[in-house]
Amino acid sequence: MKHLLSIEKLARPDLEKILAAAVVMKRERGRHATQPLLGQTWALIFSKSSTRTRVSFEVGVAELGGRPMFLSAADIQMGRGEPIKDTARVMGRLLHGAVFRTFAQGDVEEFAQFSGIPTINALTDEEHPCQILADIQTIQERLGDITGKVVTFVGDGACNVPVSWMFAAAKLNFELRIAAPKQFQPAAALRKRAGGNILCTTDLKAAARGADVLYTDVWVSMGKEAETAARFQALQGYQINQPLVKLAKPGALVMHCLPAYRGKEIDDETFEANADTIFTQAENRLHVQKAVLNWAVD
Ligand code: CP
Ligand code: NVA
Repeated sequence: MKHLLSIEKLARPDLEKILAAAVVMKRERGRHATQPLLGQTWALIFSKSSTRTRVSFEVGVAELGGRPMFLSAADIQMGRGEPIKDTARVMGRLLHGAVFRTFAQGDVEEFAQFSGIPTINALTDEEHPCQILADIQTIQERLGDITGKVVTFVGDGACNVPVSWMFAAAKLNFELRIAAPKQFQPAAALRKRAGGNILCTTDLKAAARGADVLYTDVWVSMGKEAETAARFQALQGYQINQPLVKLAKPGALVMHCLPAYRGKEIDDETFEANADTIFTQAENRLHVQKAVLNWAVD
């Protein structure tokens, strides 16, 4: 049984296999030789909002011959307190796979354990593996092999997206720099768990100098809305803008997982100048997730 629960738990050969298959999925969209999900129904269980992840999985499951079933967590009994492990055992008897977006990482892991069907993490508070896979696909399309490249993350360095970046850095041998205020840097224990070549700093300019990629994410992740004012204050200045881009390598990519808040983590001019890269990241969610689905049922 294969699950994509995190980048941390994804073995390097599987990571490489998925990235290679994503290239083929993109090239052969609309004329795939096989329909690996034919006759299958996959649940998309979401406890948080989503545009990209929901749409790309619904389209992706259908393009592989399967039927996606979107379930807002608020509309099923889980939203009224039915335990995850009971929900999982029901789904496991009725469905062929599940894509789950929620808060605690442990909930996705528990779902995988009790459902007995392939389970994909569609974002938790701790990781966003599908996003990072699509981002790496985008980087490799534009800059070639990610090995040895410098990826600089700017902003809330402790949220799900940079954490998935940390685990990817060690597996694919690129340098990751995280520029964030002290309280928004990843915990030391997590850095130790990730290993790899990772620099965490408050020095935004030093982190951007010579980078191949400048990457950012929202300052206020889903579930952290009560901290909005404090986060705006602490993260002020940790923005990707034109002066920062000038410090990076000429031709460096500017990336954003979206949704974007202009004037906060990125300015409008820089966002629009790099919109093609940013929306290619969003498009690649489809291709790489189809590769994940295919791998999960293989
Ligand atoms: N980047 C991303 O996961 O977007 P959604 O929240 O819209 O799915
Ligand atoms: N860190 C963000 C990612 C959104 C795709 C969040 O969790 O809200």
